Amino acid sequence: MNAKAAAARRAVTYVQNGMILGLGTGSTAACAIEAIGERIRQEGLRVQGVPTSARSEELARQWNIPIRSLSGSLEIDLTIDGADEVDTALNLIKGGGGALVREKIVAVASRERLIIVDESKQTPVLGAFPLPVAVIPFGWESTQRQLQALCPDVRLRAASDGSPYRTDDGLYLLDLPMGRIEDPAALEAALKRMVGVVEVGLFVGLTTRLIVGYTDGRIEERVPTDAPA
Ligand code: 5RP
Repeated sequence: MNAKAAAARRAVTYVQNGMILGLGTGSTAACAIEAIGERIRQEGLRVQGVPTSARSEELARQWNIPIRSLSGSLEIDLTIDGADEVDTALNLIKGGGGALVREKIVAVASRERLIIVDESKQTPVLGAFPLPVAVIPFGWESTQRQLQALCPDVRLRAASDGSPYRTDDGLYLLDLPMGRIEDPAALEAALKRMVGVVEVGLFVGLTTRLIVGYTDGRIEERVPTDAPA
C-alpha cells in the first residue's frame, strides 16, 4: 500500500457510526473517501459526508456515502483532508487541488480535523509550495498588483486549456511562491485584509491530528501538543 493510502486508512479508523464527516479533496483525501466506502460496504457503517469539492462529491456518491450539505447549524464531527505542506506546529498550506475555500469552511465547521499526508509534505517552515490565494475574478489584476507587494512572482493559475483556472465557486487562484513563511498567522491576516481576496490556503491552528504515511510502511500520528514550542 502506498504512503498516502496507508495514512488514509489509519485516519478512517477514527470514523464511528453516526458521524457527519467532512470529505477533503485531493489524491490522499480520495483514498480516505474510498476507505470510508469500503467500511460502508463491509460493515454497514452509517455516516454522512459533506464534500469539499464537486470531485469529492462524485467520488463519495460512487462509494455510496450519503451526502449532506453544510446547511443550517450543521456541525461536522470529523473532517479528513490532505495538505500540500505541514510544518512542525501542524500549520498547513492547502489548495494545490484548488478547493481551499470549501476546505476551510468545512474545517472550521468541524469538531476534529484530521490531516493525512505522505512524508514528502513535511517541512520545518512553510512556503516552498506556492501559497494558493482565492480571489474574485472581477478586477483580479488589481488584486494581483496588491499581492505583488508581498510576493513579486505571484501568478494566475491556469487550467489545462490555458484559460484561468476556476474553483467550484467560480473564483480565480493566484499562487504565491513565498519561499519561506516565518509567521503564517500574520501572513494570513495580511492577505485577508486585501480587497478582492476571498480566502488564503494557510490553515493555522486548525489541525487536531496529523497522520503521516512513510514509504517504508511506518505511520506516525501527531497532535498539536507534540509540536516543539
Ligand atoms: C486540495 C488540497 C489537497 O489536500 C492538497 O492539494 C493535497 O493533495 P494531494 O493529497 O493530492 O497531495 O488542499 O485543495
